Amino acid sequence: MPTKIQGKSIIVTGAGRGIGAEIARGLAADGAKLTVADLSEENAHAVAGSIREAGGTAVAVAVDVRDRSSVRAMIGETVRAHGRLDVIFNNAGVAQTKPFLDITEEDWRFVNDVNALGVLIGMQEAIRQMQAQARDGTGTGKGGGKIVNTASIAGKQGYEPLAHYSASKFAVVALTQAAARAFGKDGITANAICPGVVATDMWKVIDGGFREHGLTSRDNEAFETFAGIAVLGRPSAPQDLVGVARFLASSDSDFMTGQSLLVDGGMVFV
Ligand SMILES: NC(=O)c1ccc[n+]([C@@H]2O[C@H](COP(=O)([O-])OP(=O)(O)OC[C@H]3O[C@@H](n4cnc5c(N)ncnc54)[C@H](O)[C@@H]3O)[C@@H](O)[C@H]2O)c1
Repeated sequence: MPTKIQGKSIIVTGAGRGIGAEIARGLAADGAKLTVADLSEENAHAVAGSIREAGGTAVAVAVDVRDRSSVRAMIGETVRAHGRLDVIFNNAGVAQTKPFLDITEEDWRFVNDVNALGVLIGMQEAIRQMQAQARDGTGTGKGGGKIVNTASIAGKQGYEPLAHYSASKFAVVALTQAAARAFGKDGITANAICPGVVATDMWKVIDGGFREHGLTSRDNEAFETFAGIAVLGRPSAPQDLVGVARFLASSDSDFMTGQSLLVDGGMVFV
């Protein structure tokens, strides 16, 4: 029996490793056609290759989500490979640990350029493509399309010493709501996933920052302390985000838009 995302053309940015890689693998296993996009071309190729070896469909694309021409090229390659674009996961992100008073303008731009501006550009260019498909009839159903952004628990609460990271993720939630209001008339939905503490390379960066600034005294201390808050009693693995990704990519979520779903093992209740 075909799955609900069988044959859909799906881009996942930041899919060279971590959460994005696992989402790409999970959706490809369900029969979707993937574009594995990442700043690291090498990692994107490795993940796309592993999908093809498992019998799935995937192309690898090098992208810098901060660069509009690069994002346009990614969408162009997707349409060439899979015929159209149905869903984009704007998942690429960076983190940095800095005590509030030490955050510089450069730090702010580094984090917000990728996490907020990168998501804005990814949404704009994907929506333009989806609107064009609706006009020329190459889209699925009544046209439309699905935008799924990766926000964070830090998009719901401000965390010290991650103030600029938190601000970037609040921006993702705001962009998700604004696009939902703007493009509902086109049948385009925009939702976000808010993970909690996920065991990926990003947390190694965050945890290292806590140590570097003398906020913790041993490796993994920050990771364990934060993850310890989750009522389900363990940190997340990237696989924990695949179910919600599948739901948001499928027709099961067609009447949901503007929402930012916490999938964090029970850390933040709002
Ligand atoms: N790990 C967590 O605990 C956690 C929690 C909440 C939200 N998130 C969010 O989930 C997303 C994925 O995080 P992860 O934990 O898998 O991190 P990760 O560092 O393992 O992977 C992020 C990927 O994004 C890519 N990337 C970075 N800058 C890019 C750019 N300019 N253009 C294209 N790709 C770029 C990196 O090369 C990397 O492959 C991020 O948006 C992150 O903020 C992570």
